[in-house]
Amino acid sequence: MTDVSLGMPQLPAPDYPADVRARLEADAREVIARYPDSRSALLPLLHLVQSEEGYVTRTGMRFCAEMLDLTTAEVTAVATFYTMYRRKPSGDYQVGVCTNTLCAVMGGDAIFAELQEHLGVGNDETTPDGKVTLEHIECNAACDFAPVVMVNWEFFDNQTPESAKRLVDDLRAGRPVAPTRGAPLCTYKETARILAGFPDERPGAVEATGGAGPASLVGLKLAKGEAVPGARVVHPRGEPAEDRSMPGSEHLSSHDAPQATSASDPQHPSGPVTEEGE
Ligand code: FES
Repeated sequence: MTDVSLGMPQLPAPDYPADVRARLEADAREVIARYPDSRSALLPLLHLVQSEEGYVTRTGMRFCAEMLDLTTAEVTAVATFYTMYRRKPSGDYQVGVCTNTLCAVMGGDAIFAELQEHLGVGNDETTPDGKVTLEHIECNAACDFAPVVMVNWEFFDNQTPESAKRLVDDLRAGRPVAPTRGAPLCTYKETARILAGFPDERPGAVEATGGAGPASLVGLKLAKGEAVPGARVVHPRGEPAEDRSMPGSEHLSSHDAPQATSASDPQHPSGPVTEEGE
């Protein structure tokens, strides 16, 4: 086998110790049995091997390939495509700062910059104590709570540089921290096992149903035409703001209302395409 990137011969991936292999095989069979086609179990199996070592090793990929009758190339292609699979050792807590557009302008960029300086690490780097890996992350559909920080994929909403620095200090010191919503926090390895599909039986985890927060539900209620105390729809084209605190408005929202293109671009009015292409 050849390491293409280095042009060097690569040793075969070592196997797991016998007891670890036996335990992982039993878990893997349980996961595979959920699917009509065994190869569909690849994503959870990658989480399973990640739960063993904290990242997806060559040994883990070989294990997945053997369990699913795939080639290691097929497994590698998947493991290197998705960012939720780590390819190198990292910290107990993955601290992901959302720096997509909305979080960035609401302070995500500033949080990331201050955490870099505070922790002395860059993107995808781990503190020397092995506790925290800092990462840019993409939008996690929590824009209404921007700027958002995620620790092992649990939400910490409406963060500031100061609150984020306190958060990482607490994580490194082993002090308990509680996500804004959802299940209690656990280590990256424990998270990986939950993502592999094994029940999260920790106290508080079952009760944490998650779900949408109040800010998200305001939009849903407006879309259904329901009353939302204090809500106003602001039209983008200068029409008067609409009081939506009471039901009975004519249409669902400013964006659902039919709008002629000519209203926003008088120089280039357009209408329905006719058979003659006019
Ligand atoms: S932009 Fe950060 S959660 Fe959507």
